[in-house]
Amino acid sequence: MELREIFDLVPQAAEQLPRGAFLTAGGDVWNPMTIGWAQFGVIWGRPVVTVMVRKSRFTFSRMEQTDVFTVSVPRAKELAKELGFCGSRSGRDVDKERESGLTRSPARAGGADGVRECGAAFECRIVQKQMLDLDTLDPEARARYYGSNQALPNGDPHMIYVGEILAAYSL
Ligand SMILES: Cc1cc2nc3c(=O)[nH]c(=O)nc-3n(C[C@H](O)[C@H](O)[C@H](O)COP(=O)(O)O)c2cc1C
Repeated sequence: MELREIFDLVPQAAEQLPRGAFLTAGGDVWNPMTIGWAQFGVIWGRPVVTVMVRKSRFTFSRMEQTDVFTVSVPRAKELAKELGFCGSRSGRDVDKERESGLTRSPARAGGADGVRECGAAFECRIVQKQMLDLDTLDPEARARYYGSNQALPNGDPHMIYVGEILAAYSL
């Protein structure tokens, strides 16, 4: 795909992200997780999306079993209830495919199945991942996001996944 075709979809995604988008990993279990943070850009000569998943998430275990993921972005201000559900309930406890009210949009380019009810999807292949090194993080951000109030005792740092964009399209 042309970079321009991909990046035409980014303003819409950037505007919606603070309200939430859905991350789905490849593999048999389809478990949309709400995300609020992502980066869109170019690294290693290819268009990428970077997402961050805490170790405590069920989605972390799914991301570790696959090399693809998809970020699905709702149309402006839509799917608030579903974002709330997928941002507070864990796939360890509920079957989100049955209970979230969301349905699969089959992958078109070898990524993971996305969310049909959304406005845009970014299918990705993981090209790099690394655990966030809290010792190199701004102390204010560390205290705010990785303090003792997190699900795991070490601050529950995020795994950072860089995904090459295989395809991006409107749904
Ligand atoms: C608006 C919003 C944004 C969120 N962003 C992230 C994120 O970027 N990374 C993350 O690990 N969790 C994030 N979360 C928390 C997860 O969505 C939440 O813990 C979810 O229940 C995990 O689901 P899972 O256990 O099925 O993976 C966010 C939650 C909300 C409501």
